[in-house]
Amino acid sequence: MTIFDWPARMQQMADFVGFTEDDLELLRASGPLLIDRADDLAAAVYEHFLSFPATARYFLTRDGEVNETRLTRRKHSLARWLRNSIEFRIDHQFPVFLLAVGVVHSNPPLPAGRHGSVPARFMTGTISFIQTQIASTLAEEMNDSAAAMRTAIAWNKMLMLQLDVLLAGYVTETPIPPRPDAPLMDDDGNEIEPGMTVTHDPNRRNGSPEAH
Ligand code: HEM
Repeated sequence: MTIFDWPARMQQMADFVGFTEDDLELLRASGPLLIDRADDLAAAVYEHFLSFPATARYFLTRDGEVNETRLTRRKHSLARWLRNSIEFRIDHQFPVFLLAVGVVHSNPPLPAGRHGSVPARFMTGTISFIQTQIASTLAEEMNDSAAAMRTAIAWNKMLMLQLDVLLAGYVTETPIPPRPDAPLMDDDGNEIEPGMTVTHDPNRRNGSPEAH
């Protein structure tokens, strides 16, 4: 059995997007401000879902009415996720929590399964919507606009780290191995850099996590 080291993979992504200790501090510092707005943020996300038929359908009853009980439960889940995000850390628990949240959307259990999976593009779109909401909230609430900008950048990077794991249940990577003998051509078919040779790097994993 192969076990993926998710914290190591998240750390690799954190290094790649340049998410630093300073970013982590900025996130933490914005906590009190955003916690106060967590319920409003969750409400805005669900209002957005309800304004598009493709996403509203997950929250409708069989006769097409908004399922208020379900919606309230989901708003609470999203607000909880947002609060957890303020506590973001790359440890052994956070990726597991994110994988579980992702799988509920990619492979929904019953009774949510009645609607089928949530298309991956709406997961991406939701993270984008949340990034915009958070950046706007920070811009409104923080007096120091340069600090608000830095904090929004930290949130953007961290939410991309999360999205990468949230999408794990959707994405099946099938990397094409390097082909050392393939000629290097430009768009017109002319060979470029004829002296250059491509060597196969056995350590390259095309972004897939290290297996133990
Ligand atoms: C990336 C953004 C999203 C986050 C962070 C998120 C977060 C969550 C969380 C924390 C739960 C509760 C999981 C649990 O039961 O433990 C949940 C459930 C659910 N979410 Fe999302 N969600 C996102 C996007 C979406 C989208 C785009 C839709 C559909 C338009 C959606 C529809 C649902 C539904 C239907 C459930 C209920 C599943 C069930 O009851 O079993 N979510 N979500």
